[in-house]
Amino acid sequence: MSDLAGEAAGRDAADELAPLRAAFDLDDGAAYLDGNSLGALPRAVAPRLAEVVRHEWGRLRIRSWGESGWWTAPERVGDRIGRLVGAAPGQVVVGDSTSVNLFKALVAAVRLGGPERDEILVDAATFPTDGYIAASAARLTGRRVRAVEPGAVAREAGPRTAAVLVNHVDYRTGRLHDLPGITAAAHAAGARVVWDLCHSAGALPVGLDEHGVDLAAGCTYKYLNGGPGSPAFLYVRQELQHRFDSPLPGWNSHADPFGMESGYRPAEGATRGRVGTPDILSLLALDAALGVWDGVDLAALRAKSLALTDFFLRCVAAYVPGDRVTSVTPAAHAERGSQVSLRCPGAGEVMAELVRRDVVGDVRPPDVLRFGFAPLYCRFADAERAARELGEVVRSSRA
Ligand SMILES: Cc1ncc(COP(=O)(O)O)c(C=O)c1O
Repeated sequence: MSDLAGEAAGRDAADELAPLRAAFDLDDGAAYLDGNSLGALPRAVAPRLAEVVRHEWGRLRIRSWGESGWWTAPERVGDRIGRLVGAAPGQVVVGDSTSVNLFKALVAAVRLGGPERDEILVDAATFPTDGYIAASAARLTGRRVRAVEPGAVAREAGPRTAAVLVNHVDYRTGRLHDLPGITAAAHAAGARVVWDLCHSAGALPVGLDEHGVDLAAGCTYKYLNGGPGSPAFLYVRQELQHRFDSPLPGWNSHADPFGMESGYRPAEGATRGRVGTPDILSLLALDAALGVWDGVDLAALRAKSLALTDFFLRCVAAYVPGDRVTSVTPAAHAERGSQVSLRCPGAGEVMAELVRRDVVGDVRPPDVLRFGFAPLYCRFADAERAARELGEVVRSSRA
């Protein structure tokens, strides 16, 4: 065993979060490093879904909207996610996709400001959907979009800025943006801020309430392990809820949804963020998946995440020829999410070979290998193995 493999074994043995891996349906022989794209399956999900299908749907049928708590599941599951993103109860609702929630949040953010605020600032390196949604939100509200580096928000936001939309962690590079600083800078300019938490929810502490964030949205199928296409979440800060003017005011967000009134009257609270009938099977799969978080300390989660990514970077430096890969993930802890991205020529073929070897990450254009470290189930041994196999693959592709 190499020194690094020995060190990995020792660190896994000492890891206080290591027992949580058993709550997931994972093969021992694979290094699954793609939880930043699709989280692994928690074992509790399949039996719970079988019960929902057989009993709640199969036997109780329509009664389950009340008796099984289906109707209130978006808020109930929202509160479970709230704990993980630093939101007190009553501010998070689950439903729809992240793209749809970003649209609701951004239009609502613009509507909170006056007409003189005629621009929306968008993270220049944003995940594409955010940019597309912002462009449409701008057309709808008569504003224009301006792309800015998140680090430049303090300089760029001003009296004309209605809203700022930033990705907390950059999907390509794994760079963590300064949520407290950017939120404060947007507020100093009188603007609202909307955070995309897809790559931070379940990966690190977010502190939405603590840092005064206005609105946020994020996926649940990555680090929250809700399953493919599981519904997203929307955070609306409590003080803003009575002024949250949704561009998609469906009947689920009505004050009296079963009154079937012809006029719209918004519900109180985070319920205002709902639209139509929730996707109950996916929502309850997510609910069951969230059980793995009970009792997890987010500071310990963050410490393990940083330890894993630090260790992976050391292993890459030791095993992989330095002229073949370069890390595009910041070295500074304060600027790193829970993934490591390596620029590598021929990234597509390199990753295909790694996947054949049961080391699973993914690729983003033009040439970036992404390795996500979900701290609940990734092992130091996975980090060591991934770097070792990567070294072999790039050496053999050069030969
Ligand atoms: C940062 C970020 N924002 C938004 C999205 C889009 O989410 P959805 O497809 O659920 O709308 C993704 C999806 O991977 C993402 O990574």
